[in-house]
Amino acid sequence: KIIVLDFGSQYNQLITRRIREFGIYSELLSHKLTAAEIKQMDPKGIIFSGGPNSVYDQNAFQVDPEIFQLGIPILGICYGMQLMAHDLIGGKVENATNKEYGKAIIQVKDAHAKLFRDLPEKQTVWMSHGDLVTQVPDGFKILATSENCPISAMADDQRKFYGIQFHAEVRNTEYGNEILRHFAFDICQARDNWSMDDFIDLQIRKIRETVGDRKVLLGLSGGVDSSVVGVLLHKAIGKQLTSIFVDHGLLRKGEVEQVMDSLKGKFGLNIIQVDAHERFMKKLVGVADPEKKRKIIGNEFIQVFNDEASKLHGIDFLAQGTLYTDVIESGTDTAQKIKSHHNVGGLPKDIKFKLIEPLRTLFKDEVRELGERLGMPSALVWRQPFPGPGLGIRVIGEITEEKLQIVRDSDYILREEIAKHGLEREIWQYFTVLPGIRSVGVMGDGRTYDYTVGIRAVTSIDGMTADFAKIPWDVLQEISVRIVDEVAHVNRVVYDITSKPPATIEWE
Ligand code: XMP
Repeated sequence: KIIVLDFGSQYNQLITRRIREFGIYSELLSHKLTAAEIKQMDPKGIIFSGGPNSVYDQNAFQVDPEIFQLGIPILGICYGMQLMAHDLIGGKVENATNKEYGKAIIQVKDAHAKLFRDLPEKQTVWMSHGDLVTQVPDGFKILATSENCPISAMADDQRKFYGIQFHAEVRNTEYGNEILRHFAFDICQARDNWSMDDFIDLQIRKIRETVGDRKVLLGLSGGVDSSVVGVLLHKAIGKQLTSIFVDHGLLRKGEVEQVMDSLKGKFGLNIIQVDAHERFMKKLVGVADPEKKRKIIGNEFIQVFNDEASKLHGIDFLAQGTLYTDVIESGTDTAQKIKSHHNVGGLPKDIKFKLIEPLRTLFKDEVRELGERLGMPSALVWRQPFPGPGLGIRVIGEITEEKLQIVRDSDYILREEIAKHGLEREIWQYFTVLPGIRSVGVMGDGRTYDYTVGIRAVTSIDGMTADFAKIPWDVLQEISVRIVDEVAHVNRVVYDITSKPPATIEWE
């Protein structure tokens, strides 16, 4: 296995999943581990993740310096590289005059560099840093440079220490995967003998161990994640699982029926369906702040649960479809908070269930693979991701029934058109939002003053980064015409052309 030490980058778990994709077991661990603890784990390699700190910050995350004496190959990424340069004799890190953020071109200087074996001399990489290594430590050589970053990659083949200033784990780095592969296979000599089936076996064993003969309650949200958790748990503990499907009134058109048909109908899960629409709307009246909305929806979800669960007797566990993206963006020990994801931020302190979150270390596409391995139909597994707070965060600002209706109807049209043109698999997520602004239009001979609907469509692998989807103009035109024609109170349609980062996928 290869371990990744966490220095707080938003991308850190991505590194572990890239390694797992190679068929090598990998996990993200605290940077506070001692060299002795690491030695005991006997990893083939260690990766230092990136992080938001500067090595000169007072509370900058450190590693046990003895790690450098273990004889295990180390790859430092971004902050990880700077930390290496800072900790090893002869290296120097400085504040960059030009902070770099986004795509950059690097030039590979060393034709024999193991990290860049068989790769082109010039390649696009994803940079995101304030500090720079300005002098490599003793024994290191410079492998690559870029305009703003003269030391973009460095190596000490003798000690097997490597550093890259760019993020090889994000897809925007053209040959990132190859670079990580070279490290994992050539340098660490790791073997590819790990698979998703191992993950299923491990989770089923863990779930059975934790649960014993007790009972579990699952919150079905209507999305892919909780559905997969449902099927996984059903497989592990069968009838000890009861699912509650809370219809908070913020679901898409036709969604309740779809979920009930497949999970209850086909898989035989025991599902209690609750119509809590009015409860949620009452709590949301007059609330415009996105974080407040998220918290309210998350809380109410749990309250509905408590109410239903109290009717059930003898439930000890609550299972949730929390993914790594939810965990990391809600803030962890080392990572900064971006937004409070439902499932994470909404939990009240006095929750009386113990939590089971078997997908906590996975990304969306890994969950899909898991679902397929569990025998779930692809129509269910390949549904686009849908946030826990549902349409509640797609009506920007205060939620009203009228606005919900506009989002629900326009979203349905968008989904129909995307399907009609066969673009479903190409586009990772697509939906409409209602920004709440109104503008002037002309329909027939009359002036209108109505809402604007925004279309958001992105391509992504895992939701951590995303590009806006290049939907053909004529398809967009058809969508626009249909939305304005068929959805009342809409006279304008706009297309969101921002990527993530700097925007997020959802607008709230
Ligand atoms: P953002 O908007 O943060 O979204 O770029 C990344 C992915 O996560 C989904 N998302 C959520 N999923 N609970 C979830 O289960 C949430 O609260 C939540 N908020 C966003 C979003 O739809 C996208 O796929």
